[in-house]
Amino acid sequence: MLDRKVKIKSVRDLGSNNYLLTLNAAEQARLIRPGQFFMLKCVEEVDENPLLRRPFTVFNICRHARSGRPAGLELLIKDVGTGTRKLVRMKPGQIIHCLGPQGNGFKVSAEMKNRVEMACLVAGGVGIAPLYMLAQDLMRQNIKPVLFYGGAGASDLVLREYFEKLGMDTNYTTMDGSFGERGLVTEPLARFLHKRAHRNIRVYACGPWGMMQAVHKLSERGKLQCDVSLEARMGCSLGACLGCVVRIKDPHGEDRYLRVCQEGPVFDSRLIDWETEPV
Ligand SMILES: Cc1cc2nc3c(=O)[nH]c(=O)nc-3n(C[C@H](O)[C@H](O)[C@H](O)COP(=O)(O)OP(=O)(O)OC[C@H]3O[C@@H](n4cnc5c(N)ncnc54)[C@H](O)[C@@H]3O)c2cc1C
Ligand code: FES
Repeated sequence: MLDRKVKIKSVRDLGSNNYLLTLNAAEQARLIRPGQFFMLKCVEEVDENPLLRRPFTVFNICRHARSGRPAGLELLIKDVGTGTRKLVRMKPGQIIHCLGPQGNGFKVSAEMKNRVEMACLVAGGVGIAPLYMLAQDLMRQNIKPVLFYGGAGASDLVLREYFEKLGMDTNYTTMDGSFGERGLVTEPLARFLHKRAHRNIRVYACGPWGMMQAVHKLSERGKLQCDVSLEARMGCSLGACLGCVVRIKDPHGEDRYLRVCQEGPVFDSRLIDWETEPV
């Protein structure tokens, strides 16, 4: 894990309070795996503001045009509060503190290609962030990724062109019907899985808690493994403060918790106590 100051290359407004932040961070880009995250200090000077660092997944690695070598990181940031607002208002050339990569990330291994035929990648809104690098990794193992991406309206379905350029099958849903199918992202997913019962499909999900719970239930019904990338408020990100814990199922009804920053953020959905959302 690196604790470095890095330079902002650009901040692109994607609409609907979403921004694509590009960092000149070649060292970090060489280390990152799909689903891992960085803790960013949302102000330039450490002493400027008492805000804690905030966790953000990496959307994409930028590469040098000629050599293809990693040059930086692209992060999708949704402006939801004090820290994210400060972050997306920063300017190219400004410096930010960047700690990571952290967390377990998604595991796509070479032996999976013999057991897994297809992968359903399910995103709600900004939950799309960890799925682009995952899609690329799956394709490298000859596992076909299929995207299910839902949002409130068309403008929430940001960065979908990245997935389309990979040649993936895509299914879009919006609650207002302004793009794709009207309704919840779990509806086309349920139809897709129903038509392909007994196929070797792996499910991956990131988004609001209720959406991931519904994806977990659909996966259980189809006896499919589902990995979810969880969000929790983080204090230290180093395993010490226990601010990020998620309750897990215990056969004896005991209280058991795992730390999203250390044991996660990616978990097998069968581990999670879906009745207890992290605070
Ligand atoms: C592992 C991980 C990866 C993440 N990746 C991304 C990403 O790629 N892009 C992105 O936009 N966001 C991501 N998030 C969420 C992001 O960290 C929060 O939105 C951010 O910390 C909010 O900071 P703030 O100061 O703007 O919000 P605050 O002013 O502190 O709070 C504003 C609102 O955001 C909620 N909130 C605050 N922190 C979190 C949190 N950690 N998770 C969920 N809700 C939170 C609060 O409950 C409140 O409703 C990720 C979170 C985790 C744990
Ligand atoms: S954020 Fe402190 S233990 Fe996870």
